[in-house]
Amino acid sequence: MIVLGIETSCDETAAAVVSDRREIMSNIILSQLADHEPYGGVVPEIAARAHLDHLDRLIAEALAQAGVGFGELSGVAAAAGPGLIGGVIVGVMTAKVIALARNLPFLAINHLEGHALTARLTDDVAWPFLGLLVSGGHCQLLLVEGVGRYRRLGTTIDDAVGEAFDKAAKLIGLGYPGGPKLEAAALRARAPGRFELPRPMLGRPGCDFSFSGLKTALRRCLEPLAKPLPDADAADLAAAFQSAVGDVLVDRTAHAFALATALAPECRTLVVAGGVAANRTVRARLDGLAAHQGWRFVAPPLDLCTDNAAMIAWAGVERLRLGLTDGLDFAPRPRWTLDAGAPKARGAGVKA
Ligand code: KG4
Ligand code: ZN
Repeated sequence: MIVLGIETSCDETAAAVVSDRREIMSNIILSQLADHEPYGGVVPEIAARAHLDHLDRLIAEALAQAGVGFGELSGVAAAAGPGLIGGVIVGVMTAKVIALARNLPFLAINHLEGHALTARLTDDVAWPFLGLLVSGGHCQLLLVEGVGRYRRLGTTIDDAVGEAFDKAAKLIGLGYPGGPKLEAAALRARAPGRFELPRPMLGRPGCDFSFSGLKTALRRCLEPLAKPLPDADAADLAAAFQSAVGDVLVDRTAHAFALATALAPECRTLVVAGGVAANRTVRARLDGLAAHQGWRFVAPPLDLCTDNAAMIAWAGVERLRLGLTDGLDFAPRPRWTLDAGAPKARGAGVKA
């Protein structure tokens, strides 16, 4: 089984070919970083146009690198949401056209499912597992019981954790994209304990997250400091922020261990996924937590944590194996929760 995957839900245009033998035959990513950098964030209209400009060529390259033609594909998968709708439409329409022209099954993939199932492509991970999904748009803890079977145990009540990294980096003056720049700055910290930041939600029942207070506290720390911020201050603040995020993620995930075990006693694996999972400090903290509690810890290689099309192709393989294909009338979804039955998160800035 060989599936072509397409990812266009944010600012990466990507195409990949993956087989059901867990083989990544090609995985091409074109970052639009330079297009959005002048604006300090992703501009949806620019993103959609850039996807349109590059996607056909990237698909041709992905097929050529994999050494297969359209005729050898078993299906075409596209990220069909959640995400910036202009870009999602570009990817979904392209996949539908290929499916129609080549008489192939079409697979509409939830971008979050792509992240959540990546560990089954890179590692031998069985159901059920606990998934911590930490990206630019989401921060969730999920009990993953099977393909399409997700129970949301906790979610953010305001900002996503990647969004918090991006905003913190902007405040500190580290630029865009925030996550990787903040991680690099934190490594240069000389006095990482110099600034004190809060640990929102720490110790609270359940495993919901909140990050907006952290951003406000960071702003307050910045007020008395000299501008432009000296490198040493920026590095120490970055380290303080990363350490606060690490503490929160560890605390919330520890609570999720208990919730997951109550629902599925055999669950002993923690999988981290999404862009923030590329952060080495976050990975190390979660690894430590899992080891301490006797759980297995799985984190995909860094380049499969951030957005890519191999994860979409793989989710396509998982769905195709079960016959879970979609009709060509499938409408792209700007919002698409993995667990429709989950209670609505309550909080000041809840978005989903
Ligand atoms: O999964 P992803 O590529 O896109 C979404 O689905 O949102 O995640 C992007 C997010 C951004 O907020 C980015 O700043 C963050 O992941 N990120 C990081 C790192 N690399 C990417 N955050 C912290 N440390 C990193 N090394
Ligand atoms: Zn993502």
